[in-house]
This record gives sequence, structure tokens and C-alpha cells, in this order.
Amino acid sequence: MGKNKVLIVGGTGYLGQHLLQAFADGQTTPFHDIAFAHHSTPPQKLLDALPHSLSFSVDLRSGSGFDSISASFGQPDVVVNCAALSVPRACEVDPEAAMSINVPTSLVKWLLSFKGKSTLLIHLSTDQADIPQLSVYEGTKSFYKEEDEVRPVNVYGKSKLEAEKLISARCSNFAILRSSIIYGPQTISPVPKFLPIQWIDSVLAKGNKVDFFYDEFRCPVYVKDVVAVIQVLATRWVTESTPVRLLLNLGGPDRVSRVQMAETIAEIRGYDISLINPVSASSVDGGVKSPADISMDISKLVKTLNVTPISFKDGVKLTLAEP
Ligand SMILES: NC(=O)c1ccc[n+]([C@@H]2O[C@H](COP(=O)([O-])OP(=O)(O)OC[C@H]3O[C@@H](n4cnc5c(N)ncnc54)[C@H](OP(=O)(O)O)[C@@H]3O)[C@@H](O)[C@H]2O)c1
Repeated sequence: MGKNKVLIVGGTGYLGQHLLQAFADGQTTPFHDIAFAHHSTPPQKLLDALPHSLSFSVDLRSGSGFDSISASFGQPDVVVNCAALSVPRACEVDPEAAMSINVPTSLVKWLLSFKGKSTLLIHLSTDQADIPQLSVYEGTKSFYKEEDEVRPVNVYGKSKLEAEKLISARCSNFAILRSSIIYGPQTISPVPKFLPIQWIDSVLAKGNKVDFFYDEFRCPVYVKDVVAVIQVLATRWVTESTPVRLLLNLGGPDRVSRVQMAETIAEIRGYDISLINPVSASSVDGGVKSPADISMDISKLVKTLNVTPISFKDGVKLTLAEP
């Protein structure tokens, strides 16, 4: 194996596949050896698309599989952890699974077992880990910053916050990315979950009136901007070798409600806007508490990495332009 190794944990997921595709293109980064970890059997379509990448079966709950990576791939220079129980409702149903997968104790232990050079761990967290206290119980605050006080309202957010604490306490070099909703085109091998833009597009295309929340605000981020942020962090690490201890909000520049998301898609597609029926999030019991306004201030991201995420409207246009 040569120099500059990157390992994507959760490489079969939505972000993981986009990252693998970008690293495998090899145009913009100095990474020559690419590997990914999966939990279930990886789809053949993904394996076929990545003939030069190694794949490993890993269970974050037990830590099984990491020894095989050490044996045949060696210590990575960069690990990107995209693995998670990422559906908040599933975390609410099985908190034990949420904690044992989303808090990457086995991954951190494995990274600490390497003596000598340090591996940069880039870890995907969530906007739901960082909810300013005021917005939860006493009112609404918009565009929160990384240093605002946090109090997650659901198991998913709690597990992600625990992960942040573990990584910042144990790892010498890390970048924690608190991501908002990630949207964009489908993956090489389609993932078994609804993608937000494609879902809204498909329901509006049917011409039926659909309910959308007007009072939940997010800063959705285009998946290729997420990939760009991760590639800048990884490339800097192997080319500059300066210590990295970062916590960054990762979102798009626009604070939008679900109604505004649907309106943007309707405008681009030319759908009848009256199909969008604004309702309050409080009118629906989705089985899990969902914070009202977790829009984020991304000025630290832009200043630190010199990456400026594209507007929601431009990201939607690019998403809908792909098959
Ligand atoms: N997508 C979003 O809108 C969004 C927003 C904010 C934050 N995030 C965070 O960003 C990261 C990536 O999200 P995503 O949407 O790409 O997730 P995803 O599509 O749900 O993918 C999850 C990945 O985790 C792996 N995994 C699950 N259980 C595992 C286990 N026990 N051991 C090892 N791997 C396991 C899955 O592997 P198999 O497929 O092989 O089972 C899959 O590759 C997650 O941390 C998520 O919380 C995502």
C-alpha cells in the first residue's frame, strides 16, 4: 500500500457513497488508497463502480472487523465516519442501538491502538445535537453558533452529542461536522430511504394536495458541498500536517421551512403552488420530538475552510437535473 490512505466508515450509506465516488475520481485529492467499511452486504453495483477500493465488513457495536483493516490496509491517514443509525425515529425505538452505533467507541479505540503518527478522524454529527436551550423550551433562536449551549430533544441528538464528547476527549486530531439535512442526487447504488428533494418532487408531481410544516427551520446542504468540505479537511491534513481540533456547523446558506423547500421545488418544476398545504409540526405526532428551529451560522466553516456552500435553490436545480 502506498501513501495517503483514506477509510470511509459507513461507505454504503448516502453520504458515504458520494464520498467514495469523489475520492475514487482522484481528481482533486492526493489520496491513492481508498477503503470503505460497511455493515450489511455491500451492493454489487457499488463494488463494481469502485474496482480499486478495498471493502471491509465492520460492526461498530462490537468493533469486529477493524483488525482486518489493520492487516490488509494498515493505518489510514484519514478516517471519515459516516456510519450511524441516522433515522431519528429508529433511534427513539431502540436507544441502545442508537448509542452503541452512533457513539463510535470501538472506532476510537481502534484508532488509538496505532502508535506513532496520528490519524485525522472526520466525524459526521448533526444539527440535532446542538439545540440552543432557548429554542427548545422558551422561544426561538435562529442561526445558532458552534459554541451555543446545547440540549438535544431526542435520542438521535443525544447519541450524537455523546459521540462529540467522546471524540473531543480521546482523539488528538479530529473534525466534527454538525450537518444539517443533506440533499442531492441519488447514489451509485440507491439507498433504501426517501431523499428529501426527490420525495417532495414526486408527491407534488402527482397533483395531490400535501401537508408541509411551516414552522420547522433547517439549513439544508448540498451533498457535493459536504464532500468538498471533507476533501479540503483531508487534503490539508496530509499536505500540511498541522494539528486539527475542529467543531464546525455544516449547512447551506439558507434557512428554510418544509413549506419553503416545497415552494422552491414547485417553482423550478412549474407545479401548482396551491398543492402545498402549510401545517404546524405540532399537528403531527411522528413518534419523535423534532426541534423547531436549528438553522445554523456557517461563518466559521466558510472562514476556516474557504468553502462556500451553494444556495438551496441552486442545489435543488442541480439535484433535479440529475436522473
Ligand atoms: N443524511 C442527512 O440528511 C444527514 C443530516 C445530518 C447528519 N447526518 C449524519 O451524516 C452521517 C451520514 O448520513 P447518511 O445519510 O449517509 O447515513 P445512512 O445513509 O443512513 O448510512 C448509514 C451507514 O451506517 C452504516 N452502519 C449502520 N449500522 C452500522 C454498524 N453497526 N456498524 C457499522 N456501520 C453501520 C450503514 O452500513 P450498511 O448500509 O452496510 O448497513 C451505512 O453505511 C450520519 O452520521 C448521519 O447521522 C446525515
